[in-house]
Amino acid sequence: MKDSLHPPVYLDFNATTPLDPAVIEAMKEFISPEFGNPSSTHFYGIAPRRAVEKARGQVAALLNCSPPEIVFTGCATESNNLAIKGIAAAQKHRGNHIVTTRIEHPAVLEVCAHLERNGFVVTCLPVDAHGLVDVRAVEQSVHDRTILISVMHANNEVGTVQPVEEIAEIARSRGIALHTDAAQTPGKMSVDVQALGVDLLTIAGHKLYAPKGVGALYLREGIGVEPLLYGAGQERGIRPGTENVIAIVGLGMACELAAQNREQDALHMKTMRDLLHSGIAESVRDVRLNGHPEKRLPNTLSLSFKGIEAGMLLEEIGLDVAASAGAACHSGEVMISHVLAAMGVPEEWAKGTLRLSTGRTTTREDILTAVRAIADAVRTLRSR
Ligand SMILES: Cc1ncc(COP(=O)(O)O)c(C=O)c1O
Repeated sequence: MKDSLHPPVYLDFNATTPLDPAVIEAMKEFISPEFGNPSSTHFYGIAPRRAVEKARGQVAALLNCSPPEIVFTGCATESNNLAIKGIAAAQKHRGNHIVTTRIEHPAVLEVCAHLERNGFVVTCLPVDAHGLVDVRAVEQSVHDRTILISVMHANNEVGTVQPVEEIAEIARSRGIALHTDAAQTPGKMSVDVQALGVDLLTIAGHKLYAPKGVGALYLREGIGVEPLLYGAGQERGIRPGTENVIAIVGLGMACELAAQNREQDALHMKTMRDLLHSGIAESVRDVRLNGHPEKRLPNTLSLSFKGIEAGMLLEEIGLDVAASAGAACHSGEVMISHVLAAMGVPEEWAKGTLRLSTGRTTTREDILTAVRAIADAVRTLRSR
């Protein structure tokens, strides 16, 4: 058991990541002395303005697009709102039908639900037992009133990677805008908007070692969206408001690092994740993997422990390991996540689900500690 000198091993990198030291270093100058407003035409505006444009270039390089196609936002939630509400408002004269999936983050599902309450029709496609969307179902769902398809790049809970490239062929051949929520993928796998064939793509700073409070939306040239905010015209009027220069600089640096180090980082995260999986599977019985065995983020491990409640498991391991549950207890009732429910994970398994996610800084020692703590806790809870 760890003491207070040793905080729990962090295995929740899909929730958020620590700041990379190079990101902190890059941001320092824009905390002080370069405090200026990038819109100022005097001396103090010059460095911040250049820094925002440099960051735009760094994000664009990671995503393989041109810098003007990047719009800085406050978070992935905002990018998703801007993409979905923005297309809905800009294209409502063409149609009112939107296609998405049951396993999207609430930052997509709740936006779609809001639009549904306002006259739009939303098709929420099911997924298979691995969390994969069927491309033929996408094809069958679209019609001449469909204006947007929004399918996430990789799922935050189980890590399943969707066939976005194939869905793009359908969207392109029908002239339908395609958005993907890629909050979980940069730095873990290639996120190339040309290869993916998407028109809009969401990223979030704090999932890739940049600060919270910054995100970006890739908006393919020629695709118009209605802004969520109106103001003084920053970000070409698509997202007005004085830029969060410090965080934008951090996001730019984080994207540069992700582009440089992706292959080695992904291999490291996968090695740590697989070590964690095999260690747990060898130590306790009745464990099942959720998500696709291969088409999966290299860092994500969603495990269900039969007959155990995830909340109790998290409580038991809390001093040793920080992870997330795939089920939450509300007023004595266990509610399983909408993702596990959509995948049809049986309840006696689903309610005992832990989401473990490794990162750039995860060590072998971390994994050994986590395996020991989780295996001990599972045995203890099963013996009660
Ligand atoms: C896939 C996905 N989309 C959107 C979000 C929302 O990100 P934020 O809370 O930074 O807006 C998250 C965060 O967990 C996510 O994993």
